[in-house]
Amino acid sequence: MNIVNKKKKLPKIGLLYLDYVLRFFDKSNFKGWPDKIETVVYHWGNDKARFINEVRRKEIDVLIGNIPATAYETFKEIAAALPHVRFIPSIETQFANKSKENVTLFAKKHNLSIPHTEIFYDKEEGYKYLKTCKYPQIIKRSYGPSNYGGYYVHKVDSYEEAIALLEEKKYMPIYTQDAIPLKYSGDIRVMLIGHKPVCAFWRFSGEGQWITNTSQGGSMSYDNVPMSALELAVEASKAAKAEYWACDIAIDENTDKPYILECATAFAAFPYIRDWIGQYIMWDLSEGRFPLPHVPLYSWEELGKISPSLLRTMRHIHFAKYTPSADGAYWLEDKGEFDMEKTEESTPDDIPDPIKPEEEDKIPEIVKESVKEEAEVGPDEQEQYELENVTLTQLLTLQGMEEDVAVKIKELIDNKEISSLEDLSKYDFVSKEQLDQWSKYFK
Ligand SMILES: Nc1ncnc2c1ncn2[C@@H]1O[C@H](COP(=O)(O)OP(=O)(O)O)[C@@H](O)[C@H]1O
Ligand SMILES: [Mg+2]
Repeated sequence: MNIVNKKKKLPKIGLLYLDYVLRFFDKSNFKGWPDKIETVVYHWGNDKARFINEVRRKEIDVLIGNIPATAYETFKEIAAALPHVRFIPSIETQFANKSKENVTLFAKKHNLSIPHTEIFYDKEEGYKYLKTCKYPQIIKRSYGPSNYGGYYVHKVDSYEEAIALLEEKKYMPIYTQDAIPLKYSGDIRVMLIGHKPVCAFWRFSGEGQWITNTSQGGSMSYDNVPMSALELAVEASKAAKAEYWACDIAIDENTDKPYILECATAFAAFPYIRDWIGQYIMWDLSEGRFPLPHVPLYSWEELGKISPSLLRTMRHIHFAKYTPSADGAYWLEDKGEFDMEKTEESTPDDIPDPIKPEEEDKIPEIVKESVKEEAEVGPDEQEQYELENVTLTQLLTLQGMEEDVAVKIKELIDNKEISSLEDLSKYDFVSKEQLDQWSKYFK
């Protein structure tokens, strides 16, 4: 035991929370951390100065947590005012969280495989491109919180369809990419910690759907995730210098080539995965005083056999490194070459140039406003929703709401399977506490 190491003071951890935003980490994810873990909550609106002062007053060295898309620019300024505070993940690492456009710029800068994508701030130029490009194209809304389960993602088969869609939706910028013919009608989600894949699964589309959305009748499987998808996810994680990271990857059914559809530090994960991330961060911050979590590659294939409702309650899953005994056979070899690594420090030139100011000016105010509204409505000025008319966007702003849960609830409402919030108590994917919490938002 290294006595010097033991005595060395650990940095002070603060968990970064925002009002009405799902809390990814909880103190319990940092099991064994001997010192007090602070929390700092950002209140939407004009809270920058107060937030910065609170971080200083609490003498926080490391602020851990995801910044939602709509707060990204604000937190760039906050981080600049707190140069001695390490953000985990760094502001640069979170660049791709902000918009699909940022995902594309990030991937282009680092030469990561993505579907051919064009982004236009000039409507005429966009329409000109759509006249000559190949079809089908996938047109997406770039701005605002992503991962709405395909809510703002559309497939168009011709120029006429593309124009009809854009005239109706008025998305700006125009974000359009080649449709990848999806192998097995699915895509792959890979989650990584310290650049090592720790969980991966296929998501397949429902009958008659092109989009992979497990909340709309799709299904998932932890089996047979190809190595090429893991490799691409690792490449993206390293480019982002991400302590933790998730990638959605499409495999072209004709060529087997993998393409990144989305990547971010913000994603939904079972608590045991967040425990591993907490353990990894403790290892990083303690210079090895806490052990690195050992997660055998493809262990998700075995864990995935456990029913999700049970898996959701399992905590602090621990794998010891297997030491072969004289007659022992490896039952679960750590296949592949990936090691959990310390991430490099981010630097400003990790991220691509931002949108040019003159281009930013072209984003209609209405788009900026709608994005702001989604984020900044608090309970004080909170309107009361009617269950049958509530939008997915509104559901997603409810305290502690997870994206998968919101989509599921929306589906139940649309299918008239529930007529009041209380009806949700029949379902096991929401807790009584959550229902109590959300009831104040409904008439
Ligand atoms: N270029 C593409 N080619 C084929 N399918 C796509 C493409 N882009 C998106 N999809 C499908 O649409 C789904 C949702 O798109 P995504 O970009 O992940 O948006 P969201 O923010 O709604 O999750 C993907 O999971 C995938 O099934
Ligand atoms: Mg997605």
